[in-house]
Amino acid sequence: MCGIFAYINYLTPKTRHEVLDLLVNGLKRLEYRGYDSTGVAIDATNTKDIVMLKSVGKVKVLEDSIAENLSGKEFDEPVLIHCGIAHTRWATHGVPCEKNSHPQRSDNDNSFIVVHNGIITNYKDVKTFLEKRGFVFESDTDTEVIAKLVHHLWKMHPGYSFRELVEQAIQQLEGAFAVAIKSRHFPGECVASRRGSPLLVGIKTKTRLATDHIPILYGKVLPRSESTSEFMPLEEKEVEYFFASDASAVIEHTNRVIYLEDDDVAAVRDGALSIHRLKKCTDDPHAREITTLKMEIQQIMKGNYDYFMLKEIFEQPESVVNTMRGRVRFESNSIVLGGIKDYIPEIKRCRRLMLIGCGTSYHSAVATRQLLEELTELPVMVELASDFLDRNTPIFRDDVCFFISQSGETADTLMALRYCKQRGALIVGITNTVGSSICRESHCGVHINAGPEIGVASTKAYTSQFISLVMFALVMSEDRLSLQQRRLEILQGLSTLADQIREVLKLDLKVQELAKDLYQHKSLLIMGRGYNFATCLEGALKVKELTYMHSEGIMAGELKHGPLALVDDSMPVLMIVLRDPVYIKCMNALQQVTSRKGCPIIICEEGDEETKSFSSRSLEIPRTVDCLQGILTVIPMQLLSYHIAVLRGCDVDCPRNLAKSVTVE
Ligand code: AGP
Repeated sequence: MCGIFAYINYLTPKTRHEVLDLLVNGLKRLEYRGYDSTGVAIDATNTKDIVMLKSVGKVKVLEDSIAENLSGKEFDEPVLIHCGIAHTRWATHGVPCEKNSHPQRSDNDNSFIVVHNGIITNYKDVKTFLEKRGFVFESDTDTEVIAKLVHHLWKMHPGYSFRELVEQAIQQLEGAFAVAIKSRHFPGECVASRRGSPLLVGIKTKTRLATDHIPILYGKVLPRSESTSEFMPLEEKEVEYFFASDASAVIEHTNRVIYLEDDDVAAVRDGALSIHRLKKCTDDPHAREITTLKMEIQQIMKGNYDYFMLKEIFEQPESVVNTMRGRVRFESNSIVLGGIKDYIPEIKRCRRLMLIGCGTSYHSAVATRQLLEELTELPVMVELASDFLDRNTPIFRDDVCFFISQSGETADTLMALRYCKQRGALIVGITNTVGSSICRESHCGVHINAGPEIGVASTKAYTSQFISLVMFALVMSEDRLSLQQRRLEILQGLSTLADQIREVLKLDLKVQELAKDLYQHKSLLIMGRGYNFATCLEGALKVKELTYMHSEGIMAGELKHGPLALVDDSMPVLMIVLRDPVYIKCMNALQQVTSRKGCPIIICEEGDEETKSFSSRSLEIPRTVDCLQGILTVIPMQLLSYHIAVLRGCDVDCPRNLAKSVTVE
């Protein structure tokens, strides 16, 4: 929801200017996580003070404010050891304004300052406790209690190390959070921790690291003065550390990262990193692995595109291939999903499949449900994670639950996962983010391998989730003789998909023209059924989130049960009518619309003159097997929402009130 970025340099001289550039750049990479206000904190020149600068709006506003307020010769002097922290916010407690921006501070002297992602659910109790001890609160945030609680503990326990103070503090906190904390009393140090929100440590050294793991320390560790062994120095003396909510913020500096686990407390002091946990559980490992990121810097750059979203739409011919790479073997018509292959026998014995997700990820489940039912011959339930939890849905040990999430961090999906895991179900993660919470907490899973998706509106992740679920259906039906012909048809469809997506992308100019007809309207109805109903839901979601126009995905079969009343000669309607098993029914719906003077835009198959004749505006897409049509029909919807958003002057990559990763319930 928010983005955290911290940078610590040890014996690697950096001017404050350079530190600020690094922090601002880190925030730019994380901006998709929240963009209503930002802030940075670095050490002041010549004193022990900390300078904080905060602003309302996007990172650019902060960047301009830094240029205006934090300049001068002293910012060009190199500092050997330094810690800076930064934050981009998506408001949960308190409106976006300077006082509510992070870092939040403990007192006027900035004794302890904190950047936080998540929600502290018991902040009111902690606040009351601290107010009784004389602390005066200045913001409306839940975050402020963290800084003040650490300060309170520091006053109570003068001998405690910085790490111990933070550890004591977070034990009092409830909710989901990731934090990075800096203190004027512990210069050059940084302590970070997570519970429920993502956080990783990037490590950069001049030479290759001598170790591939950092030992975890458990239990009580001696106070700072007596203990040096708690920190595990890397062999290198010169080292830089980064704490970040997401790997995309560190990849330009290092590809060596440690994904922190819930309740890890990571501390950097004197160039050494320690990871500590207060209690040891039976299955805790002895060390945290240093992972080498496979991500490339180009993947998180916009290239020649104006927006990440547009780039990501146009990446789909490649991203769908990446999802299938090494898995679909067209020569032998076989599919191997390495992440779940050992669990297939268990899955085949299950009582039912449950597909759970939010937003676009949920739509990918809607899109593939019919095929899963057909090829697995199992009951398939599709659930919105929030509603699933509200209903306390009964779950059994022989259920197999799929959790679909681009980010792998969506709070509702993660909560639903834990709910099902506690009840003994088999948990399968379908995610795009390696190392994410859903990945780590699943028994097995499929990485969709779509590459980083930065635009808040999900595009390529949807088509890759779709394909991942199709591949799963194919694996499940491998030994069913009666389904072989159908499987071959689908495999054939998959083999030509990338080229067909390229064809659909050529419609871009035509879609742009249609957007010109639509952008001044208040509403857009999108109708379809069968395999294309999910496209209607997903298209309407894209239109809503990007253009702020009302849009509704309508199951064409429901038309006569209410929505038809909306149709007249001025209501914009888009209809998906393809030559599949529900074609006749879709044609009926089309006729009902046109006979009420509706003038729909039609998405139909290439060369389908009969269907096209019902409207002056149509988009023709290549023919593919029915269950893959949804991949081709969704792309014009992605492009349409994009162009309407541009015409309406909306910020395509950062729609108002939204954030890429929703880590609060
Ligand atoms: C899609 O355009 C949305 N931004 C949103 O619906 C998103 O799909 C949803 O929040 C779920 O996110 P996840 O896939 O990261 O779990």
